[in-house]
Amino acid sequence: MCGIFGYVGAQDEAPQLVLAGLKKLEYRGYDSWGIAAREAGLAPSRLLVEKHVGKIGQATTSLPSSHAALGHTRWATHGGVTQANAHPHLDCQGRLAVIHNGIVENHAELRRELLARGHTFASQTDTEVICHLLEEELTGDSPSDGDEPCERLAQAVMGVFRRLDGLSAIGVLDPQLECMAAAKNGSPLVLGWGEEGNFLASDSSALLDHTRKLTFLEDGQAALLTASQLMVYDVATGEKLNEPRVWDITWEQEVDSLDGYPHYMAKEIAEQPVVLRKLAQEQADAAQRLADSIMSASTVHLVGCGSAAHAARCGEYLFSRIASRQANCVVGSEFGYLEDFLDQRSLVVGLSQSGETIDLLDSMKSAKHRGARLSALVNVEGSSLYRLVDDPILLSAGPERCVLATKSFTAKLGVLLMAAYAARGRLEAGKALLEQAADEIQSILTDNRVEQIRALAQRVAAAEHLYIIGRGPSYPMALEAALKIKEVSYLHAEGFAGGELKHGVIALIDEGTPCIVLAPNDETFRAILSGAEEIKARGGYIIGISPFASDVWDEHIAVADVGEAASIVNAVPPQVLAYEVALARGLDPDKPRNLAKSVTVK
Ligand code: F6R
Repeated sequence: MCGIFGYVGAQDEAPQLVLAGLKKLEYRGYDSWGIAAREAGLAPSRLLVEKHVGKIGQATTSLPSSHAALGHTRWATHGGVTQANAHPHLDCQGRLAVIHNGIVENHAELRRELLARGHTFASQTDTEVICHLLEEELTGDSPSDGDEPCERLAQAVMGVFRRLDGLSAIGVLDPQLECMAAAKNGSPLVLGWGEEGNFLASDSSALLDHTRKLTFLEDGQAALLTASQLMVYDVATGEKLNEPRVWDITWEQEVDSLDGYPHYMAKEIAEQPVVLRKLAQEQADAAQRLADSIMSASTVHLVGCGSAAHAARCGEYLFSRIASRQANCVVGSEFGYLEDFLDQRSLVVGLSQSGETIDLLDSMKSAKHRGARLSALVNVEGSSLYRLVDDPILLSAGPERCVLATKSFTAKLGVLLMAAYAARGRLEAGKALLEQAADEIQSILTDNRVEQIRALAQRVAAAEHLYIIGRGPSYPMALEAALKIKEVSYLHAEGFAGGELKHGVIALIDEGTPCIVLAPNDETFRAILSGAEEIKARGGYIIGISPFASDVWDEHIAVADVGEAASIVNAVPPQVLAYEVALARGLDPDKPRNLAKSVTVK
């Protein structure tokens, strides 16, 4: 949450570079954005700042040429969505600019102390305390003081960072110096080694246009960026590290264009057949590795947040059904409270598109401390999760720009399906099923079923509530379908285990209430059909997603029978419905309100 992008170097279009970088990071937060730049050619140089409320979209910057700039796109935590609360924030003198991703948990006490010492605050953010603490740390310094003013800035940033509680990444621009400093704990920061200058960003994807040589800052590290050098420090000791690791990133360049699609959500839904076929072809060995680790562990825990948790829960069913193996699904934010029994024989598999979700990372780290072996299904190479685990498996879904998880979700299911079959010595059968699922998704997206769902969306968009039911592996799919619909269209949608309905939920059904029923060809079919009948008897409008026709369906979205891959196929019609309902309600599917991709705060 919150995107950071900085550049210092020979190019004199630093504000434009930063603006372009922020546009790539906007999915991390789109409440407001801002850039600070060092005024070129003047000594001492002044700080130039612009800030705007709202999405960055097609914005341009009015900042003049500069060789150093630092920007931020905000997902609000402390303080409302206002220009004053937009980053960068400045100290009392307007000497330096600070941008921040994360939360300063002790900001209230620090603010009280700073106010008592005469500082004035211009915002309600937790971030602003950092500016005033730095101001104090640097008071009395002039650019000519000491041997190396940039080194002094780095030391001051580390001194302040040591006083902050919570998980944060910060960047600091002092226009009097030709450098910028950064530090991180928890929230991600990546350094880019460029030809004509150096970069700082919260995600590697924003840097790949400029360089593939990256250094991922670890927790408790700080950095100093000059036009010609990148230095990494240990925050605790203030010491410079020798030869920080430089990664040569090989993953495909981000395809930035919409390729003719109106939204990234539509594009990413459409990419699923290609992603799934690629997984079947290229990641079967990795799935076998995962299967072997799962079969040899004493206990197995599949952990993720949001959609990734739904994929994990589906994996729990797949492993039970296909491999007769128990694999617990636990929500990332809860796993920390449930892991006292982990030991060296346990396996924890983290599922994450971004690899930066803090609730997941925290629980994985504490599992590591207990000696558990860690694996991950992760989409972003070099991300924190990728670097943390013993055996990362790349989803290879390509960058996911829409805030909603679509192709990364089905990719996780694809690996889990192959791994469940591999655990039974039937990897080839798993691959074949995955390819069948890819073919069926391709058909859904190219035949008249999209039209059918679009027409259905008009009816659903006018509803107040929508319910989705499924049993067995279709239960987590009901949860996922509901999440997709509500987060993008703001229509109240809830997913339930089909059997739970009569234990209370059925009271919610009213005349015309739309209900989606997931009814694949498995042992759940008869029971879920009974559930559908019970809803219909109370006035519900029944939308069946099933290979089978039935009188109970008011609307039937027919899907092919792909056996244990049914969950993968059944994920897609609700994705399309969610997208179409959002459009019918006049909403932007790529940037739903209040959300951000990559949830790096607690
Ligand atoms: C839903 C969605 C979120 C994410 C969740 C975990 O469409 O995108 O629920 O699935 O925030 O994110 P990752 O997979 O990056 O850990």
